[in-house]
Amino acid sequence: MVNYKDLGLVNTREMFKKAVAGGYAIPAFNFNTMEQMQAIVQAAVETKSPVIMQVSKGARNYANATILRYMAEGAVAYAKELGCEHPEIVLHLDHGDSFELCKDCIDMGFSSVMYDGSSLPYEENIKISRQVVEYAHKYDVTVECELGVLAGVEDEVASEVSHYTKPEEVIDFATRTGCDSLAISIGTSHGAYKFKPEQCTRDPKTGKLVPPPLAFDVLAEIEQKLPGFPIVLHGSSSVPQDEVDTINKYGGNLPDAVGIPEEQLRKASKSAVCKINIDSDSRLAMTAAVRKYLAEHPDHFDPRQYLKPARENMKKMYIHKIVDVLGSDGKLAQC
Ligand code: G3H
Ligand code: 13P
Ligand code: ZN
Repeated sequence: MVNYKDLGLVNTREMFKKAVAGGYAIPAFNFNTMEQMQAIVQAAVETKSPVIMQVSKGARNYANATILRYMAEGAVAYAKELGCEHPEIVLHLDHGDSFELCKDCIDMGFSSVMYDGSSLPYEENIKISRQVVEYAHKYDVTVECELGVLAGVEDEVASEVSHYTKPEEVIDFATRTGCDSLAISIGTSHGAYKFKPEQCTRDPKTGKLVPPPLAFDVLAEIEQKLPGFPIVLHGSSSVPQDEVDTINKYGGNLPDAVGIPEEQLRKASKSAVCKINIDSDSRLAMTAAVRKYLAEHPDHFDPRQYLKPARENMKKMYIHKIVDVLGSDGKLAQC
C-alpha cells in the first residue's frame, strides 16, 4: 500500500472548493507518454496552476500502470526542480470501470479516482460508486462519479446517443454515493468528432462546422439542486482547427473534426464546473507537430528530433487552456 501523500501528491478536495468559489476550473489532462507528462508539468509550473494528471485504463495498458505511477511521482520532483516548491498535482484514474480497478489505483498511490458507472442501471451505479467511495475515503482519496451518458465512446462504454444528466436525480445520487465530485452530461463528448455534421451548421466563409451549444440550462438546474457541489465536464477538447488543418496539410485525414468552442468552456469554468477534461487536444497538438516536422525533415529519424517540437506544441496548448480558457493560472496557494 502506497499513500499518495508520501509521493507529494494531493487530492482534489481543497482544490475544487477553491475553484468553485473562485469561478475557475482545474485542468485535467490525460497522459500516456513522458513528453505529455513533461509538457503538463512545465505548463503548470510556468502558470502557477494546480493540475490533475489523469490516467485511463487504456493508458495503463499502453504504458504500464507502475510506470505511470512513477511518472506522476517524478512529476512532483520535476515541478520542484523547475522552481515550484509546493506544486499541487493530483494523480487521477480516468473512467475506472470497476471497484477492483479503483482499489488497485488507490493502493498504488493515486490521490483521486473516477468510478464511471454511467452506463449501468441507476441503482447499480449508486451501489458500486458507494463501494468505491467507502474504500477511497479510508485513505483520504477523493472520488468522481458520473451520472448521465456522453455520446461517443467512453473508453469501453459505448453509447450511440447522449443522455443528459437528469437534474432531478443529482441530490439522491450525490447523497447516497457520497462522491466528492459529479461528472455530468450536458452535450460534450469524447474524441475529435464530437458532433455529426447534421447536428451542426456550417460557417459559409471557412466551410467549418459550427457545433450546437452545450445545455447550460441543465447545468444551471444541477447547480441549483447541489449548490457549490463540484461538477466535472468530460469530453471538453475544443479540437483546434489550426492543428486539424496542419494534420490534414501534412498527410492526415481528419475531415469535419469538431470540438467544444472555448467560449463555452470559459463560461462553464465560471460556474460550479471545477474540473475540465482534455485529452484529444493533446493528441492533436502532438500529431500536428510530428507530421509537420517529419514532412519538413524527411532525412531525420531520431525520435528526439520530432518529439521535441511535439512537446513544445502540447505545452503551448496546455498553457493556453490554463490561462485563456479555464482561468486556473496563479491559483497555487504557494509556489
Ligand atoms: O475519456 C477518454 C480519454 O480520452 C482516455 O482515452 O481510453 O483512449 O486512453 P483512452
Ligand atoms: P476529450 O476527448 O474531449 O479530450 O475528452 C477527454 C476526457 O473526457 C477524458 O476523460
Ligand atoms: Zn472522459
